[in-house]
Amino acid sequence: MLFRRGGESVKDFLPRDVSSSQQANNINPASQMKSVAVMVSANSIDYLVLDIYNCKIVRCQPQIVKGKQSMDVFRVEGPVRLSGSVRINGSKNASLPIMAATILAPGESILKAVPHLSDISVCGELLEGLGCKITRGSNGDLCIDSTVIDNPVGEYEIVCRMRAGICILGPLLARCGRAEVSMPGGCAIGDRPVNLHLKGLKALGAQIHLKNGYIIAEAPNGLKGKEIFMGGPFGSTVLGTANVLMAATLAKGRTVIESAACEPEIADLANCLNKMGARITGIGSPRLTIDGVEQLQPVSYEVVPDRIEAGTFIVAAAITASELQLQHCRLDDMMAVVDTLRHIGISIEAEGDGCVVARRGPIKTAEITTQPYPGFPTDLQAQFMVLLSLAEGNSVVIEKVFPDRFMHVAELNRMAANLRKEGPTVIVAGVKKLIAAQVMASDLRASAALVLAGLAAEGITTINRVYHIDRGYERIEERLNPLGAKIIREKG
Ligand code: EPU
Repeated sequence: MLFRRGGESVKDFLPRDVSSSQQANNINPASQMKSVAVMVSANSIDYLVLDIYNCKIVRCQPQIVKGKQSMDVFRVEGPVRLSGSVRINGSKNASLPIMAATILAPGESILKAVPHLSDISVCGELLEGLGCKITRGSNGDLCIDSTVIDNPVGEYEIVCRMRAGICILGPLLARCGRAEVSMPGGCAIGDRPVNLHLKGLKALGAQIHLKNGYIIAEAPNGLKGKEIFMGGPFGSTVLGTANVLMAATLAKGRTVIESAACEPEIADLANCLNKMGARITGIGSPRLTIDGVEQLQPVSYEVVPDRIEAGTFIVAAAITASELQLQHCRLDDMMAVVDTLRHIGISIEAEGDGCVVARRGPIKTAEITTQPYPGFPTDLQAQFMVLLSLAEGNSVVIEKVFPDRFMHVAELNRMAANLRKEGPTVIVAGVKKLIAAQVMASDLRASAALVLAGLAAEGITTINRVYHIDRGYERIEERLNPLGAKIIREKG
């Protein structure tokens, strides 16, 4: 198996003396990484590093190095009742492309409300690899100085840890006329091709070829606006739209993206780009029109609240038959979710800058089909499946964005759920209660679903590989415990 644990870099696996001698000789360790292959050993604790330059094998332990992968474990005691108020953080999936957008405007941009997550750190690492300087102010603001971009390369070792790394491709190409970005592989939620990203950039005049697993994109004479249809077999693409949108801001003339993603995170990116001086209209619709400009300016911008984090806390309230207040949460961005909640008997009402959610009776059954926005979000499919597993009767969950995104099904069945997968559909037979078990977190949202299951299950649920949750939820146990949860993080 090839290096797929997320949150680690090849640098992390190099013996200390190798890293430090590279630094002493002023060699960028990233430039050496292509020469190093990493294998995970059978026990997943030690790693064998094949140092191709020196023809030797080195055994390394991840815990000895910086930026190590956390192997923390959660112990979640249930069932609990929750009460109180929680503030929703800025959106991870809005922050990541907006961080990439700062490449387009040389200078210092300030991003506000960017959450403290491992995916954000990895994105920062990626930008630093290009030449950017990144700091966090004491007020939490993320400052990205993109004055210098002297290495337009997105290394495999970073992009394979965080697929959103692909969204530096468009802005790098627009700014530098050239970009080399590793092809992201598939991941725990299924195949994740980038053909639509490449189709869009080619339409803008980029020459693209693949070499050694890298996408090499070139546009030495700049990009040219064009009408582009971006729909694919599963509808629009979120990061594909982000990539082409960002590239088009600096292209000559007008670009029209038809079948653009309408997700609030893409609207947020477009609003941020307009604040930087771009000329984008049709924001939030499937038809984006971009009139190219000569240059963009650095920006100070606050990202939108995270609708998926909000949805996860909403399910936490619902599954524990509790009442919670959510601050800093936009129900307008979550109408499909709100509709489903009301249908299954959960009360949710806007209040202040957020909402109040409560369950006072049994959970009713539902049929949920995930779709691109404004449909029901795939990123809340796993969490709602747990909720429906306690409904009075049978529900159906159909996944139409990532048809294989069901890693949580087997784990939830270990907790006495009754789920049967049939292709991209899961039949959820409601059970009276969930029972704690030892389970394995597999991807970000599936892991969040396990935490939710643990809140409602009888006994102590042990969740391994908590690092998946840390990718997208900031210290989730420290947010849930003050509300009444009993979650202990044990250091791995
Ligand atoms: N697709 C193609 N060709 C492409 C691109 C996508 O066929 O070139 C397909 C995909 O295979 C998938 C569908 O189109 O079936 C939608 O994929 P999309 O490109 O929209 O996904 P993404 O942009 O890679 C973002 C989020 C995901 C979220 C999806 C769908 C970020 C960083 N990631 O991914 O978030 O599930 O949109 O809404 O914004 C998460 O936060 O846990 C997460 C996985």
